[in-house]
Parts: sequence; structure tokens; C-alpha cells
Amino acid sequence: MSTPHETLRALYAKRPAILAPMEDVTDVVFRRLCRSLGAEVCITEFVNVEGLLRGCRNARRKATLTPDDRPTGIQIYGADAARLAEAARVAEAAEPTFLDLNCGCWVPKVASRGAGAGWLRDPTAMVAMAKMVVGSVSLPVTVKTRIGWGPESDMPIVDLARRLEDAGVSAITLHCRTASMAHSGAADWSWAARAREVVSIPVIVNGDVKTAADADRALAETGCAGVMVGRRAVDHPWVFREIRALLDGGQELAPPTRLERIELCREHLVANVAQRGPRFGVLVTRRHLSGYLRGLDGAAELRRLLLHCDNLDGCLSILDDARERRGAA
Ligand SMILES: Cc1cc2nc3c(=O)[nH]c(=O)nc-3n(C[C@H](O)[C@H](O)[C@H](O)COP(=O)(O)O)c2cc1C
Repeated sequence: MSTPHETLRALYAKRPAILAPMEDVTDVVFRRLCRSLGAEVCITEFVNVEGLLRGCRNARRKATLTPDDRPTGIQIYGADAARLAEAARVAEAAEPTFLDLNCGCWVPKVASRGAGAGWLRDPTAMVAMAKMVVGSVSLPVTVKTRIGWGPESDMPIVDLARRLEDAGVSAITLHCRTASMAHSGAADWSWAARAREVVSIPVIVNGDVKTAADADRALAETGCAGVMVGRRAVDHPWVFREIRALLDGGQELAPPTRLERIELCREHLVANVAQRGPRFGVLVTRRHLSGYLRGLDGAAELRRLLLHCDNLDGCLSILDDARERRGAA
């Protein structure tokens, strides 16, 4: 029987490309799709602890894993340490590979209440919270956070990383921006390098990794144990196989073909409709379709047709038409 630290160390031994947690994006369908394209570790959307403890349907859905959905971490967020510890026990019953504590969400309705990045305003409380959660479950507990709240004169993350390790946390993911930066400005990976140097648990670098070359550079510059990709995956989930090919074989993969792009639209639509129902399934896939089709001959027209179609059969026939008309090379 491995210890939580051993489990996580084994998980990160091959410098995995990890699908970032993203609300309303990284559901079971998208995780499966990214995994088939090379994402080696996935994390759920963040799950509100109060929702989970009340048994709210949406929270339960987010924290439910199918047997093939491994390795996956369930991410939870909340402002109260005891409630986080209680919710961690509920999430543990879904048998994820690990539990991830969201200490990085900058969105005011989350952070201003002390949850997410709100924990960065009081690093001591954050460490005590992490320790309480670690003590309440037998699974590995990881933390995803940012370099600081902003604009501190000295970012707390290096000292914080050390203290989180002491609290028993098994890995840290670092989105290399402050909370005040939200998604603006450039991610500064040098903070991941500095944090990584002071701990022996895996540190994952996150922020602005958009290509395989970025992933390679982020790992080389930081010495981190893995790289996490968020927004780029929404438009281009092939980024995971591109990263793998470059890291493992030094190979630069050709972009996906027209046929692959059209097939991914079909696959995602069909899976989302099966999972979320006929109308909602089509709606939730829309945010991906423009990216999947980017660069194709006739993409603008195809996109326009798809965004005006709210049923699966209609979308599939638009895609079939596009495939046949252009020979799908
Ligand atoms: C739509 C969206 C939803 C997000 N939801 C979450 C979330 O639920 N939990 C979390 O820790 N981070 C969340 N994030 C932040 C990402 O996980 C990631 O840290 C951030 O986007 C930076 O990585 P990137 O430059 O690769 O996108 C979200 C980001 C986006 C764009």
C-alpha cells in the first residue's frame, strides 16, 4: 500500500501534461476526450463544499467519477477549514486519485468570501486548513494556488510551498500569476522554479502554456514535475498529444487534419448530448467548436451554421456535409 506522497510521486514521475480544472468545461466528457488525446492527469471543475455537503445535484455530479476516469483529482473549494475537511471525506467516497484544494480562484464572489485565492490573504490559515484536510482523509491532498494575492512586495509562495509540504500536502500546482492579475499579464514561471527548489513534493507549473514548445520550455526553466494546460485545451485539446510527442521523442507533430477536426466536433457533440440531454448537450459544446475548426477552409461559414443549430441531428448533418464537400483530407 503506497503512502499518499508515493502515489503522487508515481503519478508525476513521467512529467505528465495535466488538464487544468475549469468550471463548466472539464466535466466527465471533456476529461475523457482530453485523456484520449494525451492528457495523463485530469482535475474536475471546482466543487463547492456547501453544495457537496447539502447533496446538491450539481455538486454531486461534478464530484462523481466513472470507473475509466482515472487518474483524476476532485477539486473542492470553500472558506471554512472544517467544512472543507468534511467535504473532502464526501469527495473521497468517489475514489478519486487525489483531492485538490482550490486556493487560486480570483473571482470576487469566491475570493472575497475567503475561498479560492482568498486563502492567500492569510497564508497561516491556509496552511492550517490544508493540514486539517490532510488529516481527515487517507487520499493524497494537493493544493492549486497562485504566487500571491498581489501586489505584495515579496510573493508568499516560496515560504508557503514549504509550509504546505510540512502540513502534509502531496503536490502543489502553481498558476504563476497573483490573484489580482486574474488572467491578465504574463504568467511568471520563475516562481514555480523558486517554489520547486524548496520542496521535495512535486510542483506543477501552470499559466500560459499554449503549445508543446511552451510546455517543454516551462519544464526546462522550472524543473517542475508536470505541466498543466487550461485555456488552450478548450480550443485545441490536441495540445496534449503534441506535448507528449515533443517531451518523449523530440517530435513536432503536424496539426490535426480537417477530418480529425470535424470528427472531434462530432464526438464531443454526441458525447455531450448523451451526458447532458439534447439541447443542453449541444449548447455546452459550442464554446469548443470554433477552436476545433480553426484554420479550416470554410471554417467561418461552418461555425456560423453550427452556432445557429440547436439540435444534434442538424449539427451532425452540417458536419457531414462539410466533410464530404471538401474530401476530408
Ligand atoms: C473557464 C475557466 C474556468 C476555470 N475554472 C477553474 C476551476 O474550477 N478551478 C481552478 O483551480 N482553476 C480554474 N481555472 C483556472 C485554470 O485552471 C488555470 O489555472 C488558468 O486558466 C491558467 O492556465 P492557462 O493559462 O493554461 O489557461 C479556470 C479557468 C478558466 C479559463
